[in-house]
Amino acid sequence: MAERTSRIPGFFKLPPDERLARVAEITGLDDPTRQRLRDTGNLPAEVADSMIENVIGTFNVPLGIATNLMIDGEEVLVPMATEESSVVAAVSNAARQCRDSGGFHTAMSGALMIAQVQLVDVPNPEFARLRILEHRDDIKAICDDTDPVLLQYGGGFRDIEVRVLASRTGSMVVTHLVVDTRDAMGANAVNSMAEAVAPAIAEWTGGRTNLRILSNLADRRLARARATWNTATIGGESVRDGMIAAYDFAEADPYRATTHNKGIMNGVTAVTLATGNDTRAVEAGAHAYAARTGQYRSLTRWEVDAHGNLTGTLEMPLAVGLIGGATRSHPTARACLEIMGVTSAERLARNIAAVGLAQNFAALKALATTGIQKGHMALHAKNIAVMAGAVGDEVDRVADELVAAGTVRVDVAEAALRRIRGEG
Ligand code: MEV
Repeated sequence: MAERTSRIPGFFKLPPDERLARVAEITGLDDPTRQRLRDTGNLPAEVADSMIENVIGTFNVPLGIATNLMIDGEEVLVPMATEESSVVAAVSNAARQCRDSGGFHTAMSGALMIAQVQLVDVPNPEFARLRILEHRDDIKAICDDTDPVLLQYGGGFRDIEVRVLASRTGSMVVTHLVVDTRDAMGANAVNSMAEAVAPAIAEWTGGRTNLRILSNLADRRLARARATWNTATIGGESVRDGMIAAYDFAEADPYRATTHNKGIMNGVTAVTLATGNDTRAVEAGAHAYAARTGQYRSLTRWEVDAHGNLTGTLEMPLAVGLIGGATRSHPTARACLEIMGVTSAERLARNIAAVGLAQNFAALKALATTGIQKGHMALHAKNIAVMAGAVGDEVDRVADELVAAGTVRVDVAEAALRRIRGEG
């Protein structure tokens, strides 16, 4: 084993295979581990190498398909990439239970992204604000020149807003470029526009521009989903009322709202990842939006309609795209879009919103009735069986024993495996 060091001059220039060899040498990886890492599965090493830096391999997570979803009258199969058990099953179950009442209905507020240009060191910020607003047409021209392709596709500059913010170091003037990014997530487009516009803003105002970057609080790109669940279908009024009380809890308490929204993001992030989109951008936007009133609250709303049925709605920023980034380059992401039958970023965002709502329904129902562990344990038991060394049909046999015993632990799984193998 070579000396343990994190200084590897020229590492970034090596091909993935040689990088792996260097890391294996330094860290003493054994041959089987090295072989496993060399297998990049369905993401070719050269594609992975073009996506990020210092690539040595790829990291697989399970890709499942959520079934039963009817979204805006269409039957949709939804690919979900997640390491968490129960997530795919939960969406499928929730979607089945609202089919008799029409499935999910979705909408989108638009595809507008915001880029921010920060201006500091301006003695008269209010005056600067008006100067910038007067130059709206010049700003539009600069933005649209920066991305003529976006313009061709019907996107481009839409508006500006200019805010004066009080800060610890004095007032700053922040210009928002509001841009329709169409089928792109839009980060590259709006960041380039912000950088292109900044020198002109500095010149017009005499200030100094500092940051030029998009905002992930994409509150002009809200995806909306709603659905009704017949009270009889979901198990009666006590289930419905338990779910409403669970929602009220999230509305009243940020500790609960965080977990409530985490459940929503189980679905949202899984589809976002499966389609090669930026999960962190979506997550940051979701949580900031949930806190927009000053208190962190639920992203969903649950009510009872005039017929006594349960209605749920979800509204959240969903900045996802079909072009640019991994969505295009990752072959599995492309396949996932094909499976879903999605040909526009708007449709993708709307489907994701439906999944988020379904996920929340499933969590609230489980929590308000049997509790979450029962469903979790069946799948978790399989993980534990594999950890204990079970292979092939041993996995199900060990998992069944764990569930029947009501103790899902590795030591219990190892004992069950020994018994199944007749090892005493
Ligand atoms: C677990 O990943 C998600 C839940 O905790 C969500 C919730 O509590 O609403 C079950």
